[in-house]
Order: sequence, then structure tokens, then C-alpha cells
Amino acid sequence: MNDGSPLAPETMPDIVQPETATGPALQDVAIARLEDLQEKERIVVDIDGKEVGVYFLNGEVRAWVNMCPHQGGPVCQGKIMPRTLQLVREGMKSGGLGFSETERHIVCPWHGMEFDILTGRHPSNQEVRLRGVPVRVVDGEVVVSV
Ligand code: FES
Repeated sequence: MNDGSPLAPETMPDIVQPETATGPALQDVAIARLEDLQEKERIVVDIDGKEVGVYFLNGEVRAWVNMCPHQGGPVCQGKIMPRTLQLVREGMKSGGLGFSETERHIVCPWHGMEFDILTGRHPSNQEVRLRGVPVRVVDGEVVVSV
């Protein structure tokens, strides 16, 4: 069980703070038990009008603002799919398509842009990414700061 410290800080993406240091203080909100998030893989919550998608993958927790960087669609309500891979066989010939066994993507329901669940980044344009929300596990509760 996590001791309450942020999960895997060395792999956490840059966090976009929704308010500046001079703005209102962030509010910590417990949104679910960790085991519930593990079971569901994703939970989308509305906290005072701020929609956040919270994900569990490979033992890590991430939270993203539910707004697609493309045109503002509700990205966190999109399907979760394994990353599609182009397989290569002998002689550098195509082996057809395959799926990653570890990487999973969120697929925005509006136009199909994909984002890595753990990094929030678009797979082919690393400049395009979801906005992160601080998240941690405290005594088995998943807590987001909004
Ligand atoms: S709004 Fe998400 S792909 Fe266009």
C-alpha cells in the first residue's frame, strides 16, 4: 500500500497547476478507494464544475483534465485501447498490426486523437498532451488536488 507520497515521481509528467501561486489554494478531494480505481481502470469525476479523469495502469495513478487539447472534447470519456504497433518481420517487411501489452491509450470520442494514459502525450506529436492534475494515494484513498 502506498504511504501517501506521490506515486512514481520520477515518471510523473509535468503537472499543470490550474491556479497560480497567488490564486486560490488547491482543494484535496478523495474521489475513490484505490482498489475501486484498479478495478474500473478509469473514473471521471466532476468537482465543482472541474471534470477530471483518473486512471490506474501498471501500478500507477494519473489524473487528467477532461478536455482534449485538439478542440476541447471530453477526452477522458473516450475508449481505452492498447497502443497500436506496426510489427516488423524478417527483412524489415511489415508483419501487420499488433497491440502493445503494456501501453494503453485514451481515444478522444470527438475525433479519435490518442493520448498515452501515463504520460498524457499524443504518440506522434510529443508537444500535444493532456493537462495533468496532481493526484496521490493517501491511506488507500485516491486524492486529487483541484
Ligand atoms: S476534440 Fe479530441 S480529438 Fe478533437
